[in-house]
Amino acid sequence: MKKSSRLSGFYQLSRPERARIVAAWADLSSEEQAALAAGLSLEQADYMIENVIGLFALPLGIATNFCINDEDILVPMAVEEPSIVAAVSFAARLARAGGGFRTGSTEPVMIGQVQLLDLPDHDLAAAQVQAAAADILAVANRLHPSIQARGGGARGLEVRPLADTPAGPMLIVHLLFDTRDAMGANAVNTAAEAIAPLLETLTGGRALLRILSNLSDQRQAWAEVAIPVQALATESLAGARVAQGIVEANAFAVADPYRAATHNKGIMNGIDAVALATGNDWRALEAGAHAYAARDGQYRGLTDWRVAPELDMPTGPTLHGRLQMPLAVGTVGGATKAHPSAQVALKILGQPGARRLAEIMAAVGLAQNLAAIRALVTDGIQRGHMALHARQVALAAGARGDEVAAIAVQLVREGQVRQARAEELVRAGARLSLE
Ligand code: MEV
Repeated sequence: MKKSSRLSGFYQLSRPERARIVAAWADLSSEEQAALAAGLSLEQADYMIENVIGLFALPLGIATNFCINDEDILVPMAVEEPSIVAAVSFAARLARAGGGFRTGSTEPVMIGQVQLLDLPDHDLAAAQVQAAAADILAVANRLHPSIQARGGGARGLEVRPLADTPAGPMLIVHLLFDTRDAMGANAVNTAAEAIAPLLETLTGGRALLRILSNLSDQRQAWAEVAIPVQALATESLAGARVAQGIVEANAFAVADPYRAATHNKGIMNGIDAVALATGNDWRALEAGAHAYAARDGQYRGLTDWRVAPELDMPTGPTLHGRLQMPLAVGTVGGATKAHPSAQVALKILGQPGARRLAEIMAAVGLAQNLAAIRALVTDGIQRGHMALHARQVALAAGARGDEVAAIAVQLVREGQVRQARAEELVRAGARLSLE
């Protein structure tokens, strides 16, 4: 039977009930369920980085309602900010009114850069590199038989002259390397280091940096959504008004870097949370996203939202959204393998390959952006946010158990979600329980 991620009322269940539903959904063993609760052990952490003294845990939530290319999925998200998981689940529900998300991706091709300096003749060096491309690719592939066996490996070369830098002219060689299901940083860096001596011999230059580029614009994923505008209506606003607001908000982010930074931060709220849950390098994703957002010389919003009339359709006008960006992620190797919770997160996602995971992230980013700008053009972000934020404030003020929700409700009712007031309420509660 086809599984549905439309888990109505999921947020109202207790945590053990939610965990049970997800365990049944993904057929998790008792060890896998335990890994979700326990996360990394101190011993595993000690092998992961240097100078370990402890662990730093984050909540792992599940975004519901996602339907991507006609397949329902549950999306694990590790994040500390309240309302992200609720908002993205809400937007994914809206997207269902238009059949969910359609996604796609390029081949997983990373870029390794080699910087060549002190060249006697730049034009000649560029021609020499191009003429020896087959030999250079063979050297790059020699070290990676396993990636080649899986259909990956060195794909091509690009030569980019930088005529005018603060250190004089230089020639940059890009090695295009298909890393298949790996994020591939290690493979690409090793390959870049391996071809550098040959590049020096060929050109008579000096190779300095040999490292991947995080502007992985050869490795992109995209997601699209088409929502009948009537599905966007709120209690006080017609769907057409909300859709128009979303288009206008998007135009603001396209035209203004100050707004674009916040707009894109909202997109990355979702993408980073999936990256963290699956053990991926979210700093690499951030670097790629923001460099790509500035690719035409001005930093811009990454999404496109527009309304199409579609008068001939029974559902009438439709809001079309699209997000396309570099998404260099892996599902094998690194923390994806070493972190027990990341392994389980990938199982919950249906064991995707790297391209599918990137596409899921694109859909999550688009949904997260839709949720944010829909809220901004209707009620404003604070109303929904404050109710959830109040729980964090209550917790920080020392509330425990049922008291957390009770104090949060009280803070919102009083319209003052402040730590000092929460502490007063905790003290009053303690007094009451002593009396
Ligand atoms: C908050 O974490 C993210 C938003 O600021 C994004 C946006 O403004 O689009 C709500």
